[in-house]
Amino acid sequence: MKILVTGCRGQLGTALREVLERRCPGCTTYVDRDELDICDAVAVERFLREGEYSRIINCAAYTNVEKAEEDKLECAAINIDGVANLARHADELGVRILHVSTDYVFDGKSYRPYKESDKVNPASQYGATKRKGETALLALSPESAIVRTSWLYSPVGRNFVRTMLRLADERPVVNVVCDQIGTPTYAPDLAEAIATMVLSSQWVSGIFNYSNEGVCSWYDFAEAIMKAAGKNCKVVPVPTSDYPTAVTRPYYSVLDKNKIKATYGITIPHWHESLLRCLQQMK
Ligand SMILES: NC(=O)c1ccc[n+]([C@@H]2O[C@H](COP(=O)([O-])OP(=O)(O)OC[C@H]3O[C@@H](n4cnc5c(N)ncnc54)[C@H](OP(=O)(O)O)[C@@H]3O)[C@@H](O)[C@H]2O)c1
Repeated sequence: MKILVTGCRGQLGTALREVLERRCPGCTTYVDRDELDICDAVAVERFLREGEYSRIINCAAYTNVEKAEEDKLECAAINIDGVANLARHADELGVRILHVSTDYVFDGKSYRPYKESDKVNPASQYGATKRKGETALLALSPESAIVRTSWLYSPVGRNFVRTMLRLADERPVVNVVCDQIGTPTYAPDLAEAIATMVLSSQWVSGIFNYSNEGVCSWYDFAEAIMKAAGKNCKVVPVPTSDYPTAVTRPYYSVLDKNKIKATYGITIPHWHESLLRCLQQMK
């Protein structure tokens, strides 16, 4: 099996390299923007024709949720057009695409975990472009698989865990919103699940949810980070209304993971256990 990972130097791409090299050594080509800009349709087509891949895992994305509200064109170019470029020749070339999407496709007004089939209603520019990327992908390459995830973090990159650890070293108190509820996802856990999907002898198309198990608020998550990392920084719970930003973030974005668990027989670690593994890894 020949696999291509795009956006390989991001959080998920980095985790995937470690997992795929262990589970299928030498199967995968890893590229980021400088080797393959997914917005360059001509380059993408040439790359896919020459590479003869059987699977693409697309980790390339515009992920800065705040900046996306201003940087609309760039965000759309990557999250919609870039995905379409990967998908356009996929069927003809016999490539199956596994694309990664987000809980931000939902408006966060639910009262129970979101199923894959639930109505989408993105409330932000980032969420809207990710949703349009999903639709473009499924229109051009209907056999594709999409994994929606939430609150992604890892030992590398821009994420909440690293921000909290940095703030803890800079100040004695940090305010964190307590009324947005979801589930953190440790990138190496997601990478294991994606590797299972891609390396499986049977390809299953469609949308799958994946996050760690359990539910928490950003405040709970921050408290757990400070405690587990032994930081002497007080976390103060505050409402979202105290933090007006350009982005409307979902109040509730817990994902129902029964479909991926039943389809692939995987067990998903609880977010707290995965947080401890991340902090251990960062030491
Ligand atoms: N982070 C989260 O909290 C979160 C939550 C839910 C879902 N997701 C989704 O999960 C996936 C992985 O996220 P992540 O956190 O690993 O993202 P990330 O760390 O931001 O990595 C994205 C990678 O894609 C690259 N990239 C950007 N534009 C590109 C282009 N035109 N061509 C090729 N590569 C390009 C980036 O390079 P540059 O650094 O040069 O831009 C970066 O290396 C994304 O689809 C994201 O939408 C993330």
